[in-house]
Parts: sequence; structure tokens; C-alpha cells
Amino acid sequence: MTIRFSSYSIVLIASLFAQTAQAELSGSGNLKSGEQVYNDVCSACHGTGVAHAPKFKDKEAWAPLIAEGQDVLTSHAWVGVRAMPARGGNPELKFVEFARATAYMASNAGGDWKDPDSTMMRKIMREAEKRLDKSINDAKAMKKELHRLIQSTR
Ligand code: HEC
Repeated sequence: MTIRFSSYSIVLIASLFAQTAQAELSGSGNLKSGEQVYNDVCSACHGTGVAHAPKFKDKEAWAPLIAEGQDVLTSHAWVGVRAMPARGGNPELKFVEFARATAYMASNAGGDWKDPDSTMMRKIMREAEKRLDKSINDAKAMKKELHRLIQSTR
């Protein structure tokens, strides 16, 4: 059986994807607020400071993080940094929901951060891509070293 798409349906499908992507960025649709995400996910660690997570409303802990800027801090946290699990350990979270939760925590600790609009989301995503490229390259270098070790033990 062959499935044939008319050019009309391809345009329609493409525009549906574009709309979904736009909805994820602009925050329309059924997205959780930063406060909801914080309560559901982030507070488990950031409420009490598990593994030295910067605590909610702890201005001193958050000041240097806030100084990194919304795009840099949000992207690094999303990709995962040291003891902070990628995506807050919840792969179900939309990127924009994660970004809102970060803004919620930052603005409760002295930062003047808003829910990210689509321009900010694009900046955050570009930073995240850079960060991921770095981890991919680091992992490749590690694999190379590992291969060398495996070869040398043959
Ligand atoms: C399982 C525990 C855990 C959960 C859940 C968690 N975090 Fe974290 N987070 C940490 C820890 C631990 C650190 C400190 C990382 C470090 O410096 O070693 C951290 C650090 C951060 C930072 C600062 C990153 C940096 O560059 O130093 C941000 C921003 C952040 N978390 C956002 C979030 C958001 C948003 C959520 C919820 C969606 C979340 N975290 C959920 C444990 C958690």
C-alpha cells in the first residue's frame, strides 16, 4: 500500500507542526505555569536544598545564578549541570514549562525575570544547543580514549 500526500496536505501538516512548535514557544495551549511546575517538580529538591540545590527564595544562593542571565542559566539547567538532573528529571516537561519554572524561582529570589516569550525561548534554545554540542564532543573524546584502552588490552 502506498500512502500519497497531496502537496496541500503536506503544507497542512507542516503548518500544524509549525503551529504546535509556536504554541510551545509562545505559551499558548495547555501549558503549566512556572509556579505549578515548581510545586510539582522542582520543589522536591529546591524546596529544602537537596544535594545543595539553590533553595527557593534564597537570594544569596541565587544572585550569582541570576547574574548569568536568563538564556544561559535556563539552558544549562535544562541540559543538566553537576547534580541538577537534565529537565529537572522529568522528560514530560515542555521546554517552555521548564523555562517558566526557572523564571519563577529566579524572580522569587531577587531576579526580575518574566515568563520567557518566543524571542527569549529562541535564545535559550540556541544556548542549550551549544551546551549539548559540548557534551556530545566531550562524550566522543571519552569514547575515543576508551577505544584506545580496549585496543591496548587485546
Ligand atoms: C532531583 C533534584 C532536583 C530537581 C527535581 C530539580 N533540581 Fe534544579 N538543581 C538541583 C541541584 C542539586 C542543583 C545544584 C547543582 C550544582 O550546582 O551542583 C540544581 C540547580 C539548578 C539551577 C542552577 C543551575 C546552575 O547553572 O548552577 C537551576 C536554574 C535549576 N536547578 C532549575 C530547576 C528547575 C526549573 C527544576 C524543576 C523543573 C529543577 N531545577 C528541579 C537539583 C534538582
